Amino acid sequence: MEFIIKSGNPEKQRTACLIVGICEPRRLSTAARAIDKASSKHLSNLVRRGDMDGKLGQSLVLHNVPGLLADRVMLIGCGRERDLDDQKYRKIIETSIKQLSQTGATEAVSYLPELNIKGRDIRWKIRQAVEITNHHLYQFTEFKSKKKREKKSLCRLVLTVPSRRELTAGDLAIKEAQGISKGIRLTRDLANRPSNVCTPSHLAAQAQHLGKTYKNIKVNVLERDEMRKLGMNSLLSVSAGSAEPPKLITLEYLNGRKDSKPIVLVGKGVTFDTGGISIKPAAAMDEMKFDMCGAASVLGVMCAVAELGLPINLVGVIPTVENMPSGTATKPGDIFTTMSGQTVEVLNTDAEGRLILCDALTYSGRYNPDVVIDIATLTGACVVALGKVATGLLGNHSPLANDLLAAGEYTGDRAWQLPLWDEYQSLLDSPFADMANIGGRDGGTITAACFLSRYTKNYRWAHLDIAGTAWTSGADKGATGRPVKLLMQYILDKC
Ligand code: BES
Ligand code: MN
Ligand code: ZN
Repeated sequence: MEFIIKSGNPEKQRTACLIVGICEPRRLSTAARAIDKASSKHLSNLVRRGDMDGKLGQSLVLHNVPGLLADRVMLIGCGRERDLDDQKYRKIIETSIKQLSQTGATEAVSYLPELNIKGRDIRWKIRQAVEITNHHLYQFTEFKSKKKREKKSLCRLVLTVPSRRELTAGDLAIKEAQGISKGIRLTRDLANRPSNVCTPSHLAAQAQHLGKTYKNIKVNVLERDEMRKLGMNSLLSVSAGSAEPPKLITLEYLNGRKDSKPIVLVGKGVTFDTGGISIKPAAAMDEMKFDMCGAASVLGVMCAVAELGLPINLVGVIPTVENMPSGTATKPGDIFTTMSGQTVEVLNTDAEGRLILCDALTYSGRYNPDVVIDIATLTGACVVALGKVATGLLGNHSPLANDLLAAGEYTGDRAWQLPLWDEYQSLLDSPFADMANIGGRDGGTITAACFLSRYTKNYRWAHLDIAGTAWTSGADKGATGRPVKLLMQYILDKC
């Protein structure tokens, strides 16, 4: 999909479709007014007849509008102009793309970026428009035997800016958004693949492939024997029941100043989570193929950062395993010594994410990190607490947490912070080992983070629980690519 920035009058555009906003109550946007003038009041007559009120979510496609060089005009309802905000702008762009796909147009010229959104500049508006368009055009057809060729699909979108002075900012925004979208596509593709294809070895091969594509990404894959030597018994205990070998993947992208400490991203890569011996109920168990979305988002961010050539030092660490029951699987009550030296009693083999993350977090200390951010589909409790809207955020350093919250607000890929107070720590007490791997039903997202916090004492750390946000269920089941946008904005803000 190609995006182009232009500035110019709508009546002069030779295109399959002009896209313009109509606000409530029946108020023409600037571009709509220009079309109205060129067409001898075609739009104002239509609006007066009541065919388009300008309500948010409305749309209307017009053919043969006189006085124009365009084949069609698409009117998009924007709601009241003074109520326009981030969320409404996203909805407006989304509506325009969904409606555009219903027409035969393969290209279009959109005047929606001219809308005034409180506190947002052209860079933000173009970034959002490109990212949302790419998001909605995404299709996962790898496993369809007959690729349904959509009649003719959209392949070129011109986004207009009100003045020539904004062309440069617009171009830069497109470049950023395209790089981010590329990373998001990788994340979604990996996550959507079934677990019989997307195994730990597959993730390792995909990381190697990134290393081949981008020469400043250096990839290393630790195998079971090396992990055993490092004392990663907790990570290895999770893969004990699986025929798929575990991997610890590291990706180093060092393109910042030599003396600047790296950002380390750690992604949970459970390629399928049956629960192990503490086996999960059958309903919706297929969705546990998405239990590697944290890993997929780390690979997506590495890809996007390398694609944009950002001047930063970034390291990805991906512990990846399959969690299966078998005669060799870990059993409830089993005790392991983690790489940190602390011991863990595994009371529930379904609380496996924290067991692979703890060793990966200890390992991450080797990079002398500026910050460590882990990303994990960690707890069902997070979905109960925040639904599928916000990613859960916990950590040990409030400036880092605030930066992540701000990056989420900017991109619409939002997170919400939960407390990580000492009062919760004792829920992990075990009579037999230094800690248990579960803290009971109450505050499940918090006790999971409490567990991780015991392995992150030596650096600034934040944890993103994406159990509710990494994929959608139901008819539109599939990976969302979250929280790649949030993480990319966090990184861009540091550059
Ligand atoms: N991968 C799951 C968490 C999960 C469940 C994410 C449902 C998205 C939807 C994780 O490994 C898990 O099973 N967590 C348990 C922890 C419990 C045993 C303490 C959970 O949330 O039930
Ligand atoms: Mn589990
Ligand atoms: Zn899991």
